[in-house]
Amino acid sequence: MSKEPRDDSVGALAADLAAHLEHLERFGGVRYLDAPAPRSGGGSGANPRSSPGATAPGSERAFTSAGRPQEQLAAGAVAAAPGGSRQQTADPASWTPAQKLIHLQQRVIGACRRCPLCETRRNIVFGEGSARARIMIVGEAPGAEEDNTGRPFVGAAGQRLNSWIEAVGLERRGVFIANVLKCRPPNNRDPFGPEVMACSKFLRAQIRAVRPALLVALGRFAASALLGRPVRMNQAMGRLHSYRDPRDTGERPVCVLYHPAYVLRQDRGPDTGEIGKPENEKVIEELRRAVAEVFGANGPA
Ligand code: URA
Repeated sequence: MSKEPRDDSVGALAADLAAHLEHLERFGGVRYLDAPAPRSGGGSGANPRSSPGATAPGSERAFTSAGRPQEQLAAGAVAAAPGGSRQQTADPASWTPAQKLIHLQQRVIGACRRCPLCETRRNIVFGEGSARARIMIVGEAPGAEEDNTGRPFVGAAGQRLNSWIEAVGLERRGVFIANVLKCRPPNNRDPFGPEVMACSKFLRAQIRAVRPALLVALGRFAASALLGRPVRMNQAMGRLHSYRDPRDTGERPVCVLYHPAYVLRQDRGPDTGEIGKPENEKVIEELRRAVAEVFGANGPA
């Protein structure tokens, strides 16, 4: 039984519901999320079966829904393809992480229409980075710039996230960056329960594909989704938590950090106009400590 105070916020309830449905599906044999039905017209996101740019898993290029190559994922896919082969191995159990990600992106998520966000999005923001990353960073949902480009964390919050990654001696291209929701909620509103229910399953599949040794949750929403319970930031920061997936073996440590958008808001002190030091420094310190705890002094290989 959690000792956390009860949190009835939409995000917390949505995370609970998503975890419950995941459990039902796993143990009750109920299937809640089917492969996308290809539909012509309406909404955005390229249909992988009809897009001229789409390629089979294991091939050299992966595309965002906007049809642009995802360089890092594409590079991972080439490196990971057995013997550089363009053939997809029949047995999914033998797929490389990159092959699993490409399959998830193109064949499972496809031109997703599982929730109403498909009507307002410009691009599905699948995520990007090394398919063999030891660290996966998880945000809440794409914002305007992410929706426009099809890439996660490329706006102001992304710049701040990049600075944290560099401050602890890592490279953005060496980690994998994803969000709980793959489509932008209109006006960046909080995600709704059914949206989380429809989408968090893809995040779990991404984690099973990449198998990171450390998960980093940015903000309360991502933390609640990963931990399967309502999270209060001030209680959650400062120690590692545990991510579990009944469809996977073992547990993965989770480091909970403030969302960069929140830290950016703290920056704008009305008096000084200075960069808001305490929250920013706290995040860097926490991230550095988590990386050292999980990987030792030399960091991830
Ligand atoms: N905020 C998020 O949570 N994710 C993004 O990709 C961008 C901003």
